[in-house]
Amino acid sequence: MAKILVTGGTGYIGSHTVVELQKEGFEVVIVDNLSNSNIEVLNGIEKITGIRPAFENIDCVDYVSMDRMFEKYNNIEAIIHFAASKAVGESVEKPLLYYRNNLVSLINLLQLMPIHKVRNFVFSSSCTVYGQPDILPVTEDAPIKPALSPYGNTKQIGEEIIRDTIYANSSLNSIILRYFNPVGAHASAEIGELPNGVPNNLMPFVTQTAIGMRKQLQVFGDDYNTPDGSCIRDYIHVVDLAKAHVVAVKRLLAGKPKKNVEIFNLGTGRGLSVLEIIETFERVNGVKVPHKIVGRREGDIEKVWAEPAHANNELGWKASETLEETLRSAWAWEQNLANRAKAE
Ligand code: NAD
Ligand code: WQD
Repeated sequence: MAKILVTGGTGYIGSHTVVELQKEGFEVVIVDNLSNSNIEVLNGIEKITGIRPAFENIDCVDYVSMDRMFEKYNNIEAIIHFAASKAVGESVEKPLLYYRNNLVSLINLLQLMPIHKVRNFVFSSSCTVYGQPDILPVTEDAPIKPALSPYGNTKQIGEEIIRDTIYANSSLNSIILRYFNPVGAHASAEIGELPNGVPNNLMPFVTQTAIGMRKQLQVFGDDYNTPDGSCIRDYIHVVDLAKAHVVAVKRLLAGKPKKNVEIFNLGTGRGLSVLEIIETFERVNGVKVPHKIVGRREGDIEKVWAEPAHANNELGWKASETLEETLRSAWAWEQNLANRAKAE
């Protein structure tokens, strides 16, 4: 079975994708510098799949080490490139860190691909490229809006770098996946999201508040132009998201793409408000999430959800996990983390 390089493979989305790849028989090589993940994630992957993936602690910014890695694991047939820094607020404070990490990593990989005869590339992009869309649900041909942060800009520029590179070298193929809001964890609760410090994202803040690590969740604004006044997003189970990567890799390997660069939204097509998320989380898990309404968060988008029809029809992939199951998995993971912390 084909050998797949997964950069950022010990991270949140990467680890779930490695599990799905291994379940489908792919041989996985992870490259991760552990800047935002833990080596123990490999144990979780092994527990779930029975296979410990090859792992290299390498910074993708380091061209020479990446070159050696491609030499060592020859015949890599596709790359899924997750490795990136992703904290929006931090990117405003440290823009060059973000431009260097996210863009140099990408450029290195694209440069090394023809040298090592790797032709297939899957890229983690984001619905952040749409900003506040004029039309909802948002389709892949919606205009790209000026980025609201250096992080968001690295995704926009990253997409352009891929397009230009492939235009100049038509033997390469890429699938760009624009994720909406990934949440939840593997059903085994062996792997999940490991936020560093105080979470910026909603779901880890919800679970950490429910377990008592945080006193109160702040709901950023209830005066938006939405039914209950709080912001709306498209929350997608991380396992559904992971499975889409397997489909994308298979499509590339089978030589099925209709264009050298294809773009797909990965979302459910369902928009949910912050208050709906809190209420459903409390109901399905039988636990309280103390929260209060505070002012709006700067730079927040009012509402965005995906039109997933292109991915549904072309990839034959569809998000299938229910919201209830998704929120239960997030809670089971938080409880597992707490139990592990107690045992230490
Ligand atoms: P994550 O931080 O959990 O995973 C990223 C992994 O990449 C981490 O394990 C980190 O250690 C590693 N990494 C970072 N820089 C590296 C480098 N230079 N060399 C080697 N490894 C490096 O993040 P995630 O949520 O799993 O996100 C994965 C990808 O998806 C990222 O590109 C992110 O921008 C994108 N994305 C995430 C979301 C989201 O909400 N989580 C939404 C849209 C897009
Ligand atoms: C979701 C909703 C908040 C925390 C960010 C990035 C985006 C993408 C995903 C990668 C919003 C509200 C949150 C809290 C709250 N990442 N909220 N209290 O803003 O959709 O997107 O992560 O590409 O680029 O910008 O996700 O989880 O931060 O927020 O009320 O403590 O929850 O206002 O409406 P967001 P999020």
